[in-house]
Amino acid sequence: METMTSPIVIERTGNSRLREIDFNNLEFGKHISDHMIVADWNKGNWSEPKVVPYGELRMSPSILALHYGQAVFEGMKAFHMKDGTINIFRPQKHHDRFNKSLVRMCMPTIPYEMFMMSLRALIEVDKDWVPTGEGSALYIRPLVFASEARLGVKVSDQYKFVILTSPVGPYYSKPLRLKIEEHFTRTAEGGTGFAKCAGNYGGAFYPTQLAKQEGFDQVLWTDHKEHQYVDEVGMMNVMFVIDGTLVTPELNSAILDGVTRDSILKIAREMGLKVEERRVSLDELEQAFISKSITEAFGAGTAAVVAPVAIVNFHGTDHHLPPIDASSIQLKMKHALLEIRTGAKPDTHGWNCIVRV
Ligand code: COI
Repeated sequence: METMTSPIVIERTGNSRLREIDFNNLEFGKHISDHMIVADWNKGNWSEPKVVPYGELRMSPSILALHYGQAVFEGMKAFHMKDGTINIFRPQKHHDRFNKSLVRMCMPTIPYEMFMMSLRALIEVDKDWVPTGEGSALYIRPLVFASEARLGVKVSDQYKFVILTSPVGPYYSKPLRLKIEEHFTRTAEGGTGFAKCAGNYGGAFYPTQLAKQEGFDQVLWTDHKEHQYVDEVGMMNVMFVIDGTLVTPELNSAILDGVTRDSILKIAREMGLKVEERRVSLDELEQAFISKSITEAFGAGTAAVVAPVAIVNFHGTDHHLPPIDASSIQLKMKHALLEIRTGAKPDTHGWNCIVRV
């Protein structure tokens, strides 16, 4: 657990939109909180981050991010704790991943101190935007993009660091229908799949849109070489329960190192569950569906938290998962995570970063 202090300059809005928000009906990402963090990279240094009213940024249409894709983001969450404090969940791991993504995209990293002080200042100012309802949280979206205005293909010399926040409820309202993608590729080993860069998401839209036209919710990506091994969903990592073992694809350079994935694996091991991080082939999945040894499939991600899967389609066949019930491993994981993040159970890992307000 970590407690922080902040000297960041704050310019408050005179026109809060808080009263317009229906906290009982939060659509993911629809409402951005009143304030944001902004800092600029110029001549090899970051300016002091400032809290300013959320609003438009003046930019040239020739900024390099728009043309050559230097844009990296993170997705993290803050929760209301039982004692009234606010908790940012695992900011250190998010910061670490943010910087790994930035390095991969040839962009300047964000010092940890700057990251944490910015988060603390922003959440203090917009503390009333942190929802209290069960399953809700303040989604935090740090991003860096190339802001130099120029058309030549080059690594930008200027960047903007921004943090936005948004009160959110559960990302998915019903169990997912997943189509295993056996034609298109999200990324390849050696590519940018492990990084949270904008292009990974843009490139996934077309295959996902085709899958949606066929009645699926998301694509489950497979390896680029053989389309034979499961990677991730793109919006989240994927986990299966096969013969009572929690199985998930082992990390490689094509798979995002999910913070929720990591937390669930640690919690599951501590609960005494058998956990395997390894390659998961479509042949194995098919056999597991035929023999009914696969009992659960779910997505794990910051936005989605734990998202049950109802159907996995591959080789043109819908394979159905049984409905989840109180004994489901995914529900146990979801509850255990929630209990840690809201202070109902002790945080033995030091994952919670408390912002006292
Ligand atoms: C997240 O879970 O934070 C994500 O980044 C998924 C999506 C909202 C882009």
